[in-house]
Amino acid sequence: MSLLECTGLTKKWGALAAVSQVDIVVEAGEVVALIGPNGAGKSTLFDLIAGRVTKTAGAVSFRGDRVDGLSAAALTRLGLSRTYQITALFPNLTVLENVRLAVQACKPARRRPLFSKSLHDSTTSEALQWLAKVGLNARANALAGQLSHGDQRLTEIAVALAMRPKLLLLDEPTQGMSVEETRGTVELLKSLLKDTDIAVLLVEHDLEVVFGLAHRIVVLDRGRKIADGLPDTVKADPVVQQAYLGAGHVAH
Ligand SMILES: Nc1ncnc2c1ncn2[C@@H]1O[C@H](COP(=O)(O)OP(=O)(O)OP(=O)(O)O)[C@@H](O)[C@H]1O
Ligand SMILES: [Mg+2]
Repeated sequence: MSLLECTGLTKKWGALAAVSQVDIVVEAGEVVALIGPNGAGKSTLFDLIAGRVTKTAGAVSFRGDRVDGLSAAALTRLGLSRTYQITALFPNLTVLENVRLAVQACKPARRRPLFSKSLHDSTTSEALQWLAKVGLNARANALAGQLSHGDQRLTEIAVALAMRPKLLLLDEPTQGMSVEETRGTVELLKSLLKDTDIAVLLVEHDLEVVFGLAHRIVVLDRGRKIADGLPDTVKADPVVQQAYLGAGHVAH
Protein backbone atom coordinates (compact mmCIF):
# COMPACT_ATOMS: atom_id res chain seq x y z
CA MET A 1 0.00 0.00 0.00
CA SER A 2 1.38 3.38 -1.03
CA LEU A 3 0.99 6.48 1.13
CA LEU A 4 -0.83 8.43 -1.59
CA GLU A 5 -2.46 7.01 -4.69
CA CYS A 6 -4.29 9.18 -7.21
CA THR A 7 -6.06 7.36 -10.01
CA GLY A 8 -7.59 8.97 -13.08
CA LEU A 9 -7.81 12.26 -11.23
CA THR A 10 -9.63 14.84 -13.34
CA LYS A 11 -10.82 18.41 -12.80
CA LYS A 12 -12.71 20.37 -15.39
CA TRP A 13 -13.41 24.08 -15.13
CA GLY A 14 -16.20 24.30 -17.68
CA ALA A 15 -14.72 22.98 -20.92
CA LEU A 16 -11.12 23.26 -19.67
CA ALA A 17 -9.60 20.06 -18.28
CA ALA A 18 -7.17 21.62 -15.79
CA VAL A 19 -6.21 18.12 -14.58
CA SER A 20 -6.90 15.18 -16.83
CA GLN A 21 -6.71 11.45 -15.98
CA VAL A 22 -3.68 11.82 -13.73
CA ASP A 23 -2.25 8.82 -11.87
CA ILE A 24 0.30 9.60 -9.14
CA VAL A 25 1.73 7.44 -6.38
CA VAL A 26 3.82 8.74 -3.48
CA GLU A 27 5.53 6.35 -1.06
CA ALA A 28 6.36 7.08 2.59
CA GLY A 29 9.60 9.05 2.86
CA GLU A 30 9.67 9.91 -0.83
CA VAL A 31 10.17 13.44 -2.18
CA VAL A 32 8.31 13.83 -5.47
CA ALA A 33 8.48 17.06 -7.48
CA LEU A 34 5.59 18.06 -9.68
CA ILE A 35 6.75 20.30 -12.51
CA GLY A 36 5.31 21.67 -15.71
CA PRO A 37 4.79 24.95 -17.59
CA ASN A 38 2.49 27.71 -16.26
CA GLY A 39 -1.12 26.60 -16.29
CA ALA A 40 -0.19 22.89 -16.49
CA GLY A 41 -2.52 22.07 -13.58
CA LYS A 42 -0.05 21.71 -10.71
CA SER A 43 -1.89 23.86 -8.17
CA THR A 44 -5.23 22.37 -9.20
CA LEU A 45 -3.84 18.88 -8.64
CA PHE A 46 -2.65 19.97 -5.19
CA ASP A 47 -6.05 21.42 -4.42
CA LEU A 48 -7.70 18.15 -5.47
CA ILE A 49 -5.41 16.08 -3.26
CA ALA A 50 -5.73 18.48 -0.33
CA GLY A 51 -9.54 18.59 -0.45
CA ARG A 52 -9.80 22.21 -1.53
CA VAL A 53 -11.31 21.52 -4.94
CA THR A 54 -13.91 18.88 -5.84
CA LYS A 55 -12.81 16.40 -8.48
CA THR A 56 -14.73 15.84 -11.69
CA ALA A 57 -13.58 12.20 -11.82
CA GLY A 58 -11.04 9.80 -10.36
CA ALA A 59 -10.01 8.71 -6.88
CA VAL A 60 -7.53 9.67 -4.16
CA SER A 61 -6.42 7.18 -1.50
CA PHE A 62 -4.33 8.18 1.49
CA ARG A 63 -2.89 5.56 3.84
CA GLY A 64 -5.12 2.99 2.21
CA ASP A 65 -8.45 4.81 2.51
CA ARG A 66 -10.40 6.76 -0.07
CA VAL A 67 -10.17 10.42 0.87
CA ASP A 68 -11.57 12.28 -2.13
CA GLY A 69 -14.56 14.25 -0.86
CA LEU A 70 -13.05 14.82 2.59
CA SER A 71 -12.53 18.39 3.77
CA ALA A 72 -9.08 19.93 4.01
CA ALA A 73 -9.44 19.91 7.82
CA ALA A 74 -10.25 16.18 7.88
CA LEU A 75 -7.27 15.45 5.64
CA THR A 76 -4.99 17.47 7.90
CA ARG A 77 -6.08 15.32 10.85
CA LEU A 78 -5.25 12.19 8.81
CA GLY A 79 -1.73 13.49 8.21
CA LEU A 80 -1.82 15.53 5.04
CA SER A 81 -0.59 19.14 5.41
CA ARG A 82 -0.01 21.70 2.73
CA THR A 83 1.47 25.12 2.13
CA TYR A 84 0.09 27.53 -0.44
CA GLN A 85 1.66 29.19 -3.48
CA ILE A 86 0.60 32.47 -1.84
CA THR A 87 1.44 32.73 1.86
CA ALA A 88 -1.47 31.80 4.12
CA LEU A 89 -0.41 32.89 7.60
CA PHE A 90 -2.45 35.02 10.00
CA PRO A 91 -0.59 38.32 9.47
CA ASN A 92 -1.82 39.97 12.67
CA LEU A 93 -0.81 37.09 14.92
CA THR A 94 2.76 36.54 16.03
CA VAL A 95 4.94 33.90 14.41
CA LEU A 96 4.67 31.86 17.60
CA GLU A 97 0.86 32.16 17.68
CA ASN A 98 0.64 30.94 14.09
CA VAL A 99 2.64 27.82 14.93
CA ARG A 100 0.79 27.33 18.25
CA LEU A 101 -2.50 27.20 16.36
CA ALA A 102 -1.10 24.44 14.17
CA VAL A 103 0.17 22.49 17.18
CA GLN A 104 -3.27 22.75 18.79
CA ALA A 105 -5.17 21.94 15.61
CA CYS A 106 -3.88 18.40 15.44
CA LYS A 107 -4.62 17.63 19.09
CA PRO A 108 -7.94 16.17 20.20
CA ALA A 109 -10.28 18.79 21.72
CA ARG A 110 -9.68 17.60 25.28
CA ARG A 111 -5.94 18.21 24.82
CA ARG A 112 -6.44 21.82 23.77
CA PRO A 113 -5.16 24.30 26.31
CA LEU A 114 -8.27 26.42 26.84
CA PHE A 115 -7.88 26.79 30.58
CA SER A 116 -4.96 24.61 31.57
CA LYS A 117 -1.66 26.40 32.10
CA SER A 118 0.42 23.25 31.75
CA LEU A 119 -1.17 22.44 28.38
CA HIS A 120 -0.65 26.05 27.36
CA ASP A 121 3.04 25.83 28.28
CA SER A 122 3.59 22.51 26.52
CA THR A 123 1.90 23.81 23.35
CA THR A 124 4.14 26.88 23.45
CA SER A 125 7.31 24.87 23.93
CA GLU A 126 6.34 22.50 21.11
CA ALA A 127 5.68 25.49 18.83
CA LEU A 128 9.06 26.99 19.77
CA GLN A 129 10.75 23.70 18.90
CA TRP A 130 9.25 23.81 15.40
CA LEU A 131 10.37 27.43 15.02
CA ALA A 132 13.88 26.45 16.10
CA LYS A 133 13.94 23.75 13.43
CA VAL A 134 13.37 26.36 10.71
CA GLY A 135 15.78 28.79 12.40
CA LEU A 136 13.15 31.35 13.40
CA ASN A 137 12.90 31.18 17.18
CA ALA A 138 14.46 34.66 17.46
CA ARG A 139 11.45 35.99 15.51
CA ALA A 140 8.82 34.19 17.60
CA ASN A 141 7.19 37.38 18.89
CA ALA A 142 7.21 39.30 15.61
CA LEU A 143 3.91 39.69 13.79
CA ALA A 144 3.82 37.19 10.91
CA GLY A 145 2.81 39.93 8.49
CA GLN A 146 5.96 41.87 9.32
CA LEU A 147 8.41 39.06 8.49
CA SER A 148 10.42 39.09 5.29
CA HIS A 149 8.85 37.07 2.52
CA GLY A 150 11.46 34.31 2.92
CA ASP A 151 10.82 34.06 6.66
CA GLN A 152 7.07 33.90 6.06
CA ARG A 153 7.63 30.89 3.80
CA LEU A 154 9.76 29.26 6.50
CA THR A 155 7.04 29.95 9.07
CA GLU A 156 4.56 28.22 6.78
CA ILE A 157 6.84 25.18 6.69
CA ALA A 158 6.97 25.22 10.51
CA VAL A 159 3.15 25.48 10.60
CA ALA A 160 2.80 22.55 8.20
CA LEU A 161 5.30 20.40 10.13
CA ALA A 162 3.67 21.25 13.47
CA MET A 163 0.60 19.38 12.23
CA ARG A 164 2.79 16.26 12.13
CA PRO A 165 2.07 15.26 8.55
CA LYS A 166 2.75 11.95 6.86
CA LEU A 167 2.55 13.80 3.57
CA LEU A 168 3.52 17.41 3.10
CA LEU A 169 2.33 19.24 0.00
CA LEU A 170 4.59 22.21 -0.71
CA ASP A 171 3.38 24.64 -3.37
CA GLU A 172 6.41 26.64 -4.53
CA PRO A 173 8.13 26.88 -1.14
CA THR A 174 10.93 29.07 -2.51
CA GLN A 175 8.80 31.39 -4.65
CA GLY A 176 9.91 35.00 -4.16
CA MET A 177 13.05 34.02 -2.26
CA SER A 178 16.53 35.28 -3.10
CA VAL A 179 19.08 32.81 -4.47
CA GLU A 180 20.70 32.51 -1.01
CA GLU A 181 17.35 32.07 0.75
CA THR A 182 16.41 29.42 -1.82
CA ARG A 183 19.62 27.45 -1.30
CA GLY A 184 19.21 27.75 2.47
CA THR A 185 15.64 26.46 2.23
CA VAL A 186 16.72 23.45 0.15
CA GLU A 187 19.36 22.55 2.75
CA LEU A 188 16.87 23.13 5.55
CA LEU A 189 14.23 20.90 3.96
CA LYS A 190 16.82 18.19 3.34
CA SER A 191 17.89 18.22 6.98
CA LEU A 192 14.29 18.39 8.26
CA LEU A 193 13.30 15.39 6.16
CA LYS A 194 16.40 13.33 6.88
CA ASP A 195 15.63 10.36 9.11
CA THR A 196 11.85 10.90 8.94
CA ASP A 197 9.24 8.98 6.97
CA ILE A 198 7.51 12.23 5.93
CA ALA A 199 6.78 12.19 2.21
CA VAL A 200 6.73 15.41 0.21
CA LEU A 201 4.91 16.33 -2.96
CA LEU A 202 6.49 19.55 -4.14
CA VAL A 203 5.47 22.02 -6.84
CA GLU A 204 8.42 24.12 -7.83
CA HIS A 205 9.46 26.17 -10.84
CA ASP A 206 13.09 26.47 -9.75
CA LEU A 207 14.75 23.42 -11.28
CA GLU A 208 17.77 23.77 -8.99
CA VAL A 209 15.41 23.19 -6.06
CA VAL A 210 13.70 20.32 -7.88
CA PHE A 211 16.96 18.54 -8.66
CA GLY A 212 18.33 19.31 -5.22
CA LEU A 213 15.44 17.69 -3.38
CA ALA A 214 13.41 15.29 -5.49
CA HIS A 215 13.82 11.52 -5.57
CA ARG A 216 11.36 11.40 -8.46
CA ILE A 217 9.81 13.92 -10.85
CA VAL A 218 6.32 13.99 -12.32
CA VAL A 219 5.73 16.32 -15.26
CA LEU A 220 2.34 17.79 -16.10
CA ASP A 221 1.52 19.57 -19.34
CA ARG A 222 -1.93 20.95 -20.11
CA GLY A 223 -3.46 18.85 -17.37
CA ARG A 224 -1.90 15.56 -18.42
CA LYS A 225 0.96 13.62 -16.93
CA ILE A 226 3.65 13.39 -19.61
CA ALA A 227 6.54 11.92 -17.57
CA ASP A 228 7.15 10.23 -14.21
CA GLY A 229 10.60 8.96 -13.27
CA LEU A 230 14.03 9.48 -11.80
CA PRO A 231 15.35 13.07 -12.11
CA ASP A 232 18.05 12.25 -14.66
CA THR A 233 15.64 10.26 -16.82
CA VAL A 234 13.03 13.03 -16.78
CA LYS A 235 15.66 15.69 -17.52
CA ALA A 236 16.76 13.81 -20.63
CA ASP A 237 13.21 13.09 -21.85
CA PRO A 238 12.60 14.84 -25.21
CA VAL A 239 8.84 15.01 -24.53
CA VAL A 240 9.54 17.00 -21.36
CA GLN A 241 12.00 19.29 -23.09
CA GLN A 242 9.44 19.92 -25.84
CA ALA A 243 6.70 20.75 -23.31
CA TYR A 244 8.88 23.40 -21.71
CA LEU A 245 10.27 24.86 -24.91
CA GLY A 246 6.99 24.53 -26.80
CA ALA A 247 5.23 26.61 -24.12
CA GLY A 248 7.88 29.30 -24.48
CA HIS A 249 8.96 28.49 -20.96
CA VAL A 250 12.59 28.94 -20.08
CA ALA A 251 13.81 26.09 -17.88
CA HIS A 252 16.32 27.65 -15.49
N1 LIG B 1 -10.88 28.42 -10.25
C1 LIG B 1 -10.61 28.29 -11.56
N2 LIG B 1 -11.57 28.52 -12.48
C2 LIG B 1 -11.31 28.38 -13.80
N3 LIG B 1 -10.12 28.00 -14.31
C3 LIG B 1 -9.14 27.75 -13.44
C4 LIG B 1 -9.31 27.87 -12.02
N4 LIG B 1 -8.15 27.56 -11.41
C5 LIG B 1 -7.28 27.26 -12.39
N5 LIG B 1 -7.87 27.37 -13.61
C6 LIG B 1 -7.23 27.09 -14.90
O1 LIG B 1 -6.76 25.75 -14.85
C7 LIG B 1 -5.50 25.63 -15.51
C8 LIG B 1 -4.49 25.05 -14.54
O2 LIG B 1 -4.21 26.04 -13.55
P1 LIG B 1 -3.23 25.77 -12.32
O3 LIG B 1 -3.27 26.99 -11.48
O4 LIG B 1 -3.56 24.47 -11.70
O5 LIG B 1 -1.83 25.66 -13.08
P2 LIG B 1 -0.35 25.65 -12.46
O6 LIG B 1 0.36 24.52 -13.11
O7 LIG B 1 -0.41 25.66 -10.98
O8 LIG B 1 0.21 27.03 -13.00
P3 LIG B 1 1.35 28.00 -12.37
O9 LIG B 1 2.64 27.37 -12.76
O10 LIG B 1 1.11 29.28 -13.09
O11 LIG B 1 1.14 28.09 -10.90
C9 LIG B 1 -5.15 27.02 -16.02
O12 LIG B 1 -5.54 27.09 -17.37
C10 LIG B 1 -5.99 27.93 -15.15
O13 LIG B 1 -6.30 29.13 -15.84
MG1 LIG C 1 0.31 26.98 -9.50
